[in-house]
Amino acid sequence: MSNKRDRWHSRPAFILAAIGSAVGLGNVWRFPYVAYECGGGAFLIPYFVALFTAGIPMLILEMGLGQRLQRGAPGAFAAINKKLEGFGWWAAGLSAVIVIYYSTILAWAWVYLYHSLKLAWSTDVDHFFAQEVLQRSTGPAELGTPVWYLVVGMLLTWSAIWLILRKGVRNVSKVVMITVPLPLALLALMLIRGLTLPGAIDGISYYLTPDFSRLADPQIWLKAYGQIFFSLSLASGVMIGYGSFLGRKAEITNSALITGLANCGTSFFAGFAVFSMLGYLAQIQGLPVPEVTTSGTGLAFVTYPMAILKLPALQVLFGLIFFITLLTLGIDSAFALQEAFTTGIHDKWKVSSERLAMGFIMIAFPISLVFTTQGGYYWFDIVDRWVCDFGLVIAGFLQCVIIGYLYDIQGFRKYLNSISEIRLGNWWVWMLRFVTPIVLLVILVMNIKTEFTGTYNDYPRWTTNLGGWGTLILFAVLAAFLAKASGKRKV
Ligand code: TRP
Repeated sequence: MSNKRDRWHSRPAFILAAIGSAVGLGNVWRFPYVAYECGGGAFLIPYFVALFTAGIPMLILEMGLGQRLQRGAPGAFAAINKKLEGFGWWAAGLSAVIVIYYSTILAWAWVYLYHSLKLAWSTDVDHFFAQEVLQRSTGPAELGTPVWYLVVGMLLTWSAIWLILRKGVRNVSKVVMITVPLPLALLALMLIRGLTLPGAIDGISYYLTPDFSRLADPQIWLKAYGQIFFSLSLASGVMIGYGSFLGRKAEITNSALITGLANCGTSFFAGFAVFSMLGYLAQIQGLPVPEVTTSGTGLAFVTYPMAILKLPALQVLFGLIFFITLLTLGIDSAFALQEAFTTGIHDKWKVSSERLAMGFIMIAFPISLVFTTQGGYYWFDIVDRWVCDFGLVIAGFLQCVIIGYLYDIQGFRKYLNSISEIRLGNWWVWMLRFVTPIVLLVILVMNIKTEFTGTYNDYPRWTTNLGGWGTLILFAVLAAFLAKASGKRKV
């Protein structure tokens, strides 16, 4: 980037790009599986509470901070206090971890794209995913070897990221015109089909019926906050970066509100498609809805293929379209995630974007191969859990504390009000200073405590220590190192 920052062409371009970053696999893959694991209706209340207490206030904060300081995350935090630069790097580093495991889902999607040609999953969708696609081992301790076609999928994913970058599709807003509406239209189609299948109503009622008894479970709350942070691309430096490309007078609060609602509306909608299918699967297997599948993290790869199978005509065509949209949806997020991390390096050391991208992929691709092994699925599950539920939530907590106490938050609020359509009341300050950080801290502490009594999904302790805490600590060390190193230009 030269001295003059890039600019969004217009306000819709900014909002569309922000929605484009937010809407991704998080809506169609992650939200349904987390909701299902947390008991469907039991999840929705914490989810919407998280959206309004943390998601939207934090989105306003991040977009506004980037816009006000005109810098990406590491630079913005360094501007608040030089010592905070490391925090900015850690948040941006989380993006780097996310893109590495995000690529796994894309690798699965490539494999399914191929199988769409013959609708190869027609016998048993659950078994097909676990055995024929993943060749899943019994647990993370049994790693096995890389499954060759998953490696091919992985290779295709990283090549696509590389090609997009090479060709310099900087115009994110154009890609979003396709990758946001098309999946929505397909989801609508699947939903209509889903709702007309026997048993669908049981799935929907499992999705919508609140289960107040489960609200006492801190695990569900942590997952809700983790999902909100992930889905709104928060606490990973991206929205700060996007805000920094806004002009000085650009509107913030309303744009953030629109982004947040559009994103979570999409997730909510995708939930209907998935849960109606789960209801149908429950009916044909004669099982209750919570027991129909063992695919956990891979839920989307069971329900959507099932939905495709049940379409009255043109299944192959719809299968191809569905997996192509999943890929486009994911690849632009993957690209943005990678950039969230590399832009910081580019800003500080002036390395050319192309070389940076190549360098990143050369490191990331071999690491991502872990997820293509027979035990890879479990490692993927562990990293996803730790990065979102612990990494993003800790980063979100620290961000509240930094802005709430080390920054002139009242002045910031007045500033935002002077440029925005929706005026922020004192509630926003209260939220960021007290409510959100306290809630996050309580949930975190309770969950860390349970983590010491039993292990997540009964995985051996060393695997969660290594893949979970290990990953977070490794990136903290890396962040400290990047912050300490002297750059070519002061940020
Ligand atoms: N929000 C994205 C999704 O739902 C995931 C994500 C998190 C992301 N942080 C990001 C995407 C940063 C782009 C940039 O899939």
